[in-house]
Parts: sequence; C-alpha cells; structure tokens
Amino acid sequence: MKNEIEKLKVQPGGALVGRIRVPGDKSISHRSIMLGSLAEGITEVSGFLEGEDSLATLNAFRAMGVRIERPAEGAVVIHGVGMRGLAQPAAPLDLGNSGTSMRLLAGLLAAQSFAVTLTGDASLSKRPMRRVTTPLAAMGAVIDTDAEGMPPLMIHGVQNLTGIHYAMPVASAQVKSSLLLAGLYAQGRTRIIEPAPTRDHTERMLSGFGYEVVRDEDSVSLAGGGRLTAMNINVPGDISSAAFFMVGAAIAPGSDLMIEHVGVNPTRIGVITILKAMGADITLCNKHEMGGEPVADIRVKYSPLHGINIPKNQVPLAIDEFPALFVAAACAEGTTVLTGAEELRVKESDRIRAMAEGLAVLGVDAQPQQDGIIIKGGAYQGGVVDSLGDHRIAMSFAMAALRAKSEINIKECENIRTSFPNFISLASSTGLGVE
Ligand code: S3P
Repeated sequence: MKNEIEKLKVQPGGALVGRIRVPGDKSISHRSIMLGSLAEGITEVSGFLEGEDSLATLNAFRAMGVRIERPAEGAVVIHGVGMRGLAQPAAPLDLGNSGTSMRLLAGLLAAQSFAVTLTGDASLSKRPMRRVTTPLAAMGAVIDTDAEGMPPLMIHGVQNLTGIHYAMPVASAQVKSSLLLAGLYAQGRTRIIEPAPTRDHTERMLSGFGYEVVRDEDSVSLAGGGRLTAMNINVPGDISSAAFFMVGAAIAPGSDLMIEHVGVNPTRIGVITILKAMGADITLCNKHEMGGEPVADIRVKYSPLHGINIPKNQVPLAIDEFPALFVAAACAEGTTVLTGAEELRVKESDRIRAMAEGLAVLGVDAQPQQDGIIIKGGAYQGGVVDSLGDHRIAMSFAMAALRAKSEINIKECENIRTSFPNFISLASSTGLGVE
C-alpha cells in the first residue's frame, strides 16, 4: 500500500563484499523518455531505471499519447511522435515525488499547443518552482503556481517562445535542462550560463539525438526549431545509487566491493573525489564510453577515513550524495566541514536537517549550518531515525548501521522505491543486515 509507512531495521556491523550492479541512472532514464518521445523514429532503451520517479515520467508521456512499451525488465521502446506530436492529457499529470520530472516537463510543455497541469506528492508540492517558472516566463511561457511559487503548475502552452540568455543564480541541472527543452521550441538561441558545472546529461543526449548543442566553459546554447532523430540508449548504473554502497564499503572493515557498470560522467563524480580526499580506497576499472556517457566498474575497499573541508566546487558534482557522505564523515577521524550547500535544504527533504537530526539520535556530533554541516567523526550507537520520507536519507542511515554499536531503525522508507527499488535485497546480498 502506498501510504503504509515502511520501516527498515538494520543490524549493526558487517562488511560489504561481492560484485553488484545498481539500477539505471535516474537522470538519464528521465531524459531518455523525454527526448525519445519527441524524436522521429523508435528509441530503444536498455538499463532503464524502473523506479517510481522515472516511471512517473514514462506514464506522463503515455498520457500525452506516446506509445511506450516495456518488453522486459529495464527495456523500454519509445515510438517517438516528433517535436509537435504530443497530445493533451485527459487529466493532470501526477509526477509523484519527482522534482526532475516536474522541472524538466515545465520547460518542455511550456511550448505545446495545449494546456496541462502538473501535480506531485506532499514533498514535491513543497518544492520551489520559481527557479524554472521565472526564466520560462522571460521566454514567454505562461505558467501558474501557487502563491509561494510551488506546485501544482498550470501550464498554458504558448506557441511563440523566444530564446533567452540566462545566467542561473543557482547551479542547477534541472533549471538548465528545463530551459534547454523550452529552447528547442523557441525563436532564436537559448543560452544558459552556469555559476558552476552541473550534470550535463541533457546536453550529451541532445547531441546523441542529432541536435546541435554548443558548449563552452560555463555556458551551453542551442537554437530552436530543430528535430530529434531516434537513437538507442544504454543507461549506465546510477552513481547516486552506487554512492550508498561506496560509503558502506569505505566505512566497514573487511569490505571489498565491486560495483559494475556505473556512470562516471565528470559532472557526477564528486562523491568519488570527496571520498578519496577522505582517504577512501577507490579504484575505477574497465573505463569506457557508452552512448556518449563514460562508464566504469568501481572497486571500494575499506580503509580508515579522515575528516576534510569539502571543496565548494565539488558541491554540485555530489549534490545528491551528501546524505551518504555525512555518514562517511561520522565514521571518519576528525572533523568534516561542508559549506556552500544550501540547496540541500530544498531537495526531497531538508537534507541538512534530516541528517543532522538522525546523526544526533545516533550520538554523532553533527552541527547543522544554514548552508552545510560540521560533523565530528567517532563511535556511535543505534537508535530510531526518521528519513522524513526521503529515499536518500533512508538508504544513508541503513549504511550507517555498518559502524553502529546497536540496531538502527529507520522510519518512512517507502520512497526508496522512487530511485532504488531493489535496495534492500541488493544490500543484504552484499552483507548488510537489513530487513
Ligand atoms: C537532477 C539534478 C539535480 C539532482 C536531481 C536530479 C537532474 O537537481 O539533485 O536529483 O536529473 O537534472 P538540481 O539540478 O536542481 O540540483
């Protein structure tokens, strides 16, 4: 049942050993459905993440008339309808917990010939949308939000968007992607300037679909009016899901874990850079490129960690991995300091608060700051922690049990299904005592 509060009970101790694959990358899975739907021809996707978030995107496009088949696990066949082929859905599109679906669709749907409403669950309904609706309005889009700039989004659909040059105030791949997707339909060029590099899957995939995208050091641009040509996409494993296992193996003595076929796009590998700076033993093997995205097997062996000042330039490159990294910090010798990460407060939960409160329950000295956290590593006990319904908080505390002195119970874990449906079975197969 959707509303049932699932609890996780995780036994203390253990080590992570073996060879695993984590599910497909969430960001790439979303984009494969979006661009595949707008393309001309049939796009076959393998390795698709069958999590609730990417399935929300898939169902949204089905509701807009796109034929999408799922012939086998991880396999998706999209019968593209072309740039102008989407149809008005019969009802509002419910995007569940997925901020990526809502923000990217806001841009993509701003330029259709129909109106559409986007809704989400309680968490998504509290997430800021002005970061996309304000620049989209500057392009000519007409989108209503609630009085606080939050969902639902009522998108009116206009036919005459104009390209803009936009310097993003926050380093956000969702904002960049939303504007690029609107830019496909706009008159003239849309150019987005980033305050710091963010994940570039949209740009890479647009190029793969044959759309010209111009990138320089801190900006990306495209001209509206082009077409997308179908291609096949092999989605690599999600480094954001691998991160829980990387941290688990790094903190648990006796661990030696190989995580195969993980996407190691340079705009996503902050977690590796940060863990290595803390002393983690991480090796990338079998590096190769697949469909425009770098992929590798990641081997992590236990080694003692030490606290660091996390470099600010790594923040956007590890933005989803901080809950797991905070667990690594709790197990490290000395103090870890994170600054410049205020964005963590507006993710699926307020992740600074959720982690600081949960770590405090375990007896870890974790001081939340407005834009980060200060964590003193050391021994800690078990206890009952609340994930605040956030998948990544839940999975991070599950890994924390590897070094706890007693059992950790985690509340509100049902949203693990949004990004990592087989987390519990995979984690227990490697040695985590989770049920
Ligand atoms: C995502 C971008 C990130 C990330 C999110 C997925 C994407 O958000 O936190 O989980 O697929 O573009 P921001 O770009 O808003 O930081």
